[in-house]
Amino acid sequence: MMKVIVTKNYEEMCQKAARIIAAQITLKEDSVLGLATGSTPVGIYQELVKKYEDGRLDFSEIVTVNLDEYVGLAPENEQSYRWFMNHHLFDHINIPKQYTYVPKGLSDDLEDECDNYELLIQQLGGVDLQLLGLGANGHIGFNEPSSAFAAETHVCTLSDSTIEANSRFFASKEEVPTSAITMGIGTIMQAKKILLVANGENKAKAIQQMLFGPVTPQCPASILRFHQDVTVIVDEAAFSLAAEQE
Ligand code: F6R
Repeated sequence: MMKVIVTKNYEEMCQKAARIIAAQITLKEDSVLGLATGSTPVGIYQELVKKYEDGRLDFSEIVTVNLDEYVGLAPENEQSYRWFMNHHLFDHINIPKQYTYVPKGLSDDLEDECDNYELLIQQLGGVDLQLLGLGANGHIGFNEPSSAFAAETHVCTLSDSTIEANSRFFASKEEVPTSAITMGIGTIMQAKKILLVANGENKAKAIQQMLFGPVTPQCPASILRFHQDVTVIVDEAAFSLAAEQE
């Protein structure tokens, strides 16, 4: 089942998403949280840090697994997703760092790293709540539009549009890695609950296709309609095209 919440703006989207994550932590103190990077969740992580500072959240028993990481970037590289997570969340809360997992993009054996990551998630008992952003092309994690859904954690080639979109964080487009490790669609679909967030007009088409288009690997997020517990929080701009179809 998919529940859609439309908010006035980005701030309200972040507050609502942070409340859902906080509720999950309150209900199960040792939750396994699946986390995402990118611009969209930054405000959500700020809200969570605030709640922690106010003494309203305790992360001491929480375990996190991130969706993806660029191949070839060291954890200290400011463009790596490991650095992003430390900087926006982990450094500011009481989570033991050893229980924050991000795929290792510098691994000598990437295939092995993927298999181990998949196994790790299983050993942790699966993800209780997976936070997802949405690519303008409908991708989730780095599962790009393609002819088939990739089930497990794998190495993927980034599409040109994703490289272009992500180049805003790099000095030049040439510096954006061309491949990444990502949880697969099957990995994501196994999460017990999913929370997808999207804001801004450039996500409107992807939101419309995710909610009303065919379920197809050409719009990877469309598969979420087959998941039993998905909450989508979008601002009015991201919902604008879908609203015409309701
Ligand atoms: C990030 C991730 C990506 C982003 C998506 C949207 O870990 O898996 O799927 O969620 O590219 O990115 P932003 O939020 O920067 O628009």
